[in-house]
Amino acid sequence: MNTLLFGSGGREHAFSLSFANSRSIDQLYVTPGNAGTSTLATNVNLSPTDYDAVKKFIISREIHLVVIGPEAPLVNGLADQISEDSELSHVIVLGPGAAGAKLEGSKAFAKEFMARHNIPNAAYLEVTADKLEKGLDYIKNTRGPYVLKADGLAAGKGVLIVDDAESAGRELKNMLGGKFGRASEKVVIEEFLEGVEFSVFILTDGSDYVILPEAKDYKRIGEGDTGLNTGGMGAVSPVPFFRDSFRKKVIDTVIEPTVKGLKKDGIDYCGFVFFGLIKVGDDPFVIEYNCRMGDPETQVVFPRIQSDLGELIVRAAKRQLGGMDISISNLVAAAVIAASEGYPEKYEKGKAIAGLDTVKNATVFHAGTKSVGDEILTNGGRVLAITGMGTGLQEALKKSYDGMRSICFEGITYRRDIGKDLL
Ligand code: AMP
Ligand code: GLY
Repeated sequence: MNTLLFGSGGREHAFSLSFANSRSIDQLYVTPGNAGTSTLATNVNLSPTDYDAVKKFIISREIHLVVIGPEAPLVNGLADQISEDSELSHVIVLGPGAAGAKLEGSKAFAKEFMARHNIPNAAYLEVTADKLEKGLDYIKNTRGPYVLKADGLAAGKGVLIVDDAESAGRELKNMLGGKFGRASEKVVIEEFLEGVEFSVFILTDGSDYVILPEAKDYKRIGEGDTGLNTGGMGAVSPVPFFRDSFRKKVIDTVIEPTVKGLKKDGIDYCGFVFFGLIKVGDDPFVIEYNCRMGDPETQVVFPRIQSDLGELIVRAAKRQLGGMDISISNLVAAAVIAASEGYPEKYEKGKAIAGLDTVKNATVFHAGTKSVGDEILTNGGRVLAITGMGTGLQEALKKSYDGMRSICFEGITYRRDIGKDLL
């Protein structure tokens, strides 16, 4: 099946690698892709907001499957546009429509969804500028730390955690006043949950689902989980405590009610659900939903999937996931991100990357890279993810860090403590 994949990150390189090994996928096009995807697929330049160009491309290249990697085009309804187009009735799409993507696109919508379907989450209050006083009262009458979340998409930056009530009140005013633009016109104030964070992923066709390997992400730029939040500086899979009775608890209290809740609400959800969870004591709570796979989580999740992922995706997009099993490797995977100096703030692009061919026992997934002539240059904040696999975490990390040491570009920055907390 000829396939068009949207996205340009390490996640999309990981999709491309799984698709290259799939019996179900023929020609693969990635838009815009990166230097890594260009070795496995044909990169093309289509804007997801230029629907006419997307449609023309789908027709001219006889695309039958469209897979949408990032959240923005999902939240903006690209999947609906394609599915509702009578001239593209032969095309199947993986990725929810705007109604389902709202689980990620609106924190307030996600909170209401969880309340409606009894899914465990932090206590909260939704605040808009006209209800500022109510928000300030809520802060005054609860104990810190305070979690303030911009309702809309804010490129992973829209959550503030503030210790004292006075600063929380000030930040609430700032947010409602446009700190994150329109994304923070509405703010969710949430109870602070203390525990260990981890992520669970499913692939669903709206009725049936398969559970993918779980992962733990390292979000802060600095070692010891310090400094600014990033898109993720590393990830490991599996997560040691996600087993047996706790795993069952996540399935019973989070996954099942989510899939059934979407159906009950009349939302036809076909795609990945990424559950951002926190283990408080021995109970899981949902911190956030994402309507897509994670990055860099995908770079540890997909390498552990032994089943044909392309086939699973085609089945899901055809609403035929029922009866499908997923086979998962017992190996441990660890990914470490090589970032540009300065990320997640200002950084430079265009630095030549050396040593890519010398990495022996790890997989190098490209994120912000581009080919220019014979060279591969940095082209983003997160540049590469290096995934090592082993029978234990230690071995996986060693392979990943050995790979990292054979690569160099000016300003290369990475955390040396990925996975250490789990050893
Ligand atoms: P989110 O974008 O919702 O995943 O939030 C970003 C980060 O803020 C999460 O990864 C957590 O570390 C933290 N966070 C969000 N909500 C809470 C909460 N209710 N309690 C504690 N930490 C939270
Ligand atoms: N690594 C977190 C995310 O993809 O949202």
